[in-house]
Amino acid sequence: KLDSDQLIIDAGQKQFGATNCSSCGMVYSADIPEDNFQHTQFHQRFLDSIKYVGWKKERVVAEFWDGKIILVLPDDPKYAVKKAEDVRRIADNELGFQQVTLGRPTQAKTFLFINTDRLVVGCLVAEPIRQAYRVLEQPDENKDMTKDDFMERHRAWCCSTVPEQALCGISRIWVFSLARRQGIATRMLDTVRSTFMYGSYLTKQEIAFSDPTPDGKLFATKYCNT
Ligand code: ACO
Ligand code: ZN
Repeated sequence: KLDSDQLIIDAGQKQFGATNCSSCGMVYSADIPEDNFQHTQFHQRFLDSIKYVGWKKERVVAEFWDGKIILVLPDDPKYAVKKAEDVRRIADNELGFQQVTLGRPTQAKTFLFINTDRLVVGCLVAEPIRQAYRVLEQPDENKDMTKDDFMERHRAWCCSTVPEQALCGISRIWVFSLARRQGIATRMLDTVRSTFMYGSYLTKQEIAFSDPTPDGKLFATKYCNT
């Protein structure tokens, strides 16, 4: 029978535990060669993907003391579309989505939050929709979550069967792990509501989240009730 002491001896380690890289946010065990290798592989690719060099023509839709939000549209110059895709791939990877295809790629609007270190720390993809199914409240979930609850955690959310009118679907929302709980997702959504349809400010009922993750659901519940 293996216990944790046994594991430490077997791997010949002095230290055993998780390290959280302060640049890319990956959690890994520095003492495990395979983990180290995976981190090295991930680290540079990730930082390259979120690095933002600045464009001559960028569509700034909001500005804050700690960053700005730019909007990328499908017909924008190739470098802009590519950056949006790179960041979306990072987000999809974390969300466990397999491919990068969007529902209606020609109408997708990608909002990127750029921080003062010139990193893309937030990404939101919004698409026009006609109707949506409200996610029904499920009591007592996410409480005392253990690793064994993984399957439970990934089950489909229970949705209402009655479609409701909505105008804007949020198909992806992602914030860099080291930049969470700073209101970045909130500010991206506020910006979507004010810019998505020319001349009108969308209500919280007119936006809908597709397939929210547990994080996404906690955020959406908070956002929609405040
Ligand atoms: N747990 C509990 N409450 C939360 C969480 C959380 N993980 N995240 C947000 N909230 C609530 C809080 O009340 C928070 O306010 P507070 O910090 O003052 O308490 C409020 O929502 C606002 O949060 P923000 O700071 O605006 O959200 P953030 O910038 O951290 O981004 C997000 C939230 C996008 C869900 C982020 O955690 C993330 O990227 N997670 C991984 C990817 C993911 O799951 N995305 C959602 C997928 S669903 C979809 O794409 C349709
Ligand atoms: Zn790293």
